[in-house]
Amino acid sequence: MKFFVDTADVAEIRTLNELGLIDGVTTNPSLILKSGRNITEVTKEICDIVKGPVSAEVTAVEYEQMIREGEVLAKIASNICIKLPLTLDGLRACRTLTGDGHKVNVTLCFSANQALLAAKAGATFISPFIGRLDDMSIDGMDLIREIRQIYDNYGFQTEILAASIRTVNHVREAALIGADVATVPPATIKALVKHPLTDKGLEQFLADWEKTGQTIA
Ligand code: E4P
Repeated sequence: MKFFVDTADVAEIRTLNELGLIDGVTTNPSLILKSGRNITEVTKEICDIVKGPVSAEVTAVEYEQMIREGEVLAKIASNICIKLPLTLDGLRACRTLTGDGHKVNVTLCFSANQALLAAKAGATFISPFIGRLDDMSIDGMDLIREIRQIYDNYGFQTEILAASIRTVNHVREAALIGADVATVPPATIKALVKHPLTDKGLEQFLADWEKTGQTIA
């Protein structure tokens, strides 16, 4: 499973990239707002840090303008993945932009039928939003399961990018189902390493080592 980090915070991206834990980045207009940065500048900086796909989202809702914005974003760097909303105009733009050789991430997916359409439109990634479904008492993981089955039934190459991940259990469940990618907030990526028995075991080993009086030269 690939890990993308879901943030436009350059410092966090740099830290996680140095750890060798991330394969790409996803941003959206809300994350750009949170960063307080200019979209072009911050996206360029992110693309210089991370070699894998960096999703940058168009804000147009109409086809021609989506294409124009997508082409502007794609010029920022060669690893840009153009993020488009799951609407009819977005799907049409997806077909055009992938046809022109761009990577496209179709976002705001909340149903298996929407994911089927995105795959038919040639999307590189489909982003089903787990947490926002959970917020409505609908099990977001059922959506990942349904999309996995549909894509496998027909051999679609579109990668399932589990999004709106809020917990470490979301990551585990999405991995068990076979999502190709999880886009995860920085704090949740760091939380994946935590286990009290790891801390306790390490503490014991260090205490015992101290008693040996040895050093590893
Ligand atoms: C995905 O690409 C989105 O940026 C993100 O996962 C949305 O997460 P949220 O529902 O926590 O805002």
